[in-house]
Amino acid sequence: MPVITEIADLKRLYKRRVPRMFYDYCESGSWTEQTFRENTTDFALIRLRQRVAVDMEGRSVASTMIGQDVAMPVALAPVGMTGMQHADGEILAARAAGRFGVPYTLSTMSICSIEDVAAATDRPFWFQLYVMRDQEFLENMIARAKAAGCSALVLTLDLQILGQRHKDIKNGLSTRPKPTVGTVADLSWRWRWGLGMLGTKRRGFGNIVGHAKGVKDVSSLMDWTADQFDPRLDWDKIRRIKELWGGKLILKGILDAEDARRAADLGCDAIVVSNHGGRQLDGALSAIRILPEIVEAVGDRVEILFDSGIRSGQDVLKALAMGAQGTFIGRAYIYGLGAMGEAGVTRALKIIAKELDTTMALCGRKSVRDLDRDILLTGPEFD
Ligand code: FNR
Repeated sequence: MPVITEIADLKRLYKRRVPRMFYDYCESGSWTEQTFRENTTDFALIRLRQRVAVDMEGRSVASTMIGQDVAMPVALAPVGMTGMQHADGEILAARAAGRFGVPYTLSTMSICSIEDVAAATDRPFWFQLYVMRDQEFLENMIARAKAAGCSALVLTLDLQILGQRHKDIKNGLSTRPKPTVGTVADLSWRWRWGLGMLGTKRRGFGNIVGHAKGVKDVSSLMDWTADQFDPRLDWDKIRRIKELWGGKLILKGILDAEDARRAADLGCDAIVVSNHGGRQLDGALSAIRILPEIVEAVGDRVEILFDSGIRSGQDVLKALAMGAQGTFIGRAYIYGLGAMGEAGVTRALKIIAKELDTTMALCGRKSVRDLDRDILLTGPEFD
């Protein structure tokens, strides 16, 4: 086992352990992948101000997200088909998050269902909802999330239409399967510990079982899903979902100040500044670049959460210093999950917490609750 000290180590191990098509599914952006790349490279343009001779005894990375106490302000983002990266992946990730003391968000497009995860964990989790055409499906999802005790609904707004990801199409993941010598060989020799589609035999496609007629494999799932996203999504529909849910509501996928104002007007509990990890609108600005504008527009009216591009505790610190109250990580924990199961997710969280704590201390701050732009040095290449 190689020594693991950073998220990049988990990624290398992950790449070796999962079938290529699942690695590609995770590690890709839409079209040219410009936004996907810049999500991470833009973080590197933000530099930090070192401070010395500040008493660092008793510092803490604990905080709150939507009023809930968190061991650090880093939630696990909803990631579709997590159960294909590792058998029972959603349950393992939820357990790791629960034990660490951070929120886990279950995707609508999970392999383990809401009920599977609720039965296997002892902490409330957040549920992510896609807005589907089928009203009955939508209402059923909301009722199931309520019955399972989910403590927040994360409503994803940036996927009315599925962004095109070339790798998935070439791998046969988002169209009818086209097995090639390459994909068949890849699946047969890398298929370990009941990974992926075999795992779905037991779990089905979690949340959509009984709703999706004709879904029998990943490919038909992707087709069904693509047809289901509701192109008519508008603010009225969001308001109706808010009323139906009645609990804490987080609107995910905001990249524009005017949209952020609409979200704040609606009275949601938080917004997530996110470009879906570069998987939707390629050519959009990196999420960290747009964050200051949104903080400026609505930071005093609604809690701002952030994701897209976080690969280290330093990245978390930069997003917090720019005005986010909390963050989500997507790929960073999926690498850990695919590499080592639950222990890998825990490892990813520990790595991030340690980097966050060390960086915060070297910037002369004792709590993640009082980070601000004074610790950041951004030049013209960022501003
Ligand atoms: C996602 N994301 C996502 N978002 C969502 O609301 N529902 C979903 O089902 C999924 N599925 C999904 C699958 C995969 C493989 C990835 C990588 C991402 C987006 C996710 O919640 C989050 O916004 C991004 O992952 C954040 O970017 P980073 O941290 O991965 O760079």
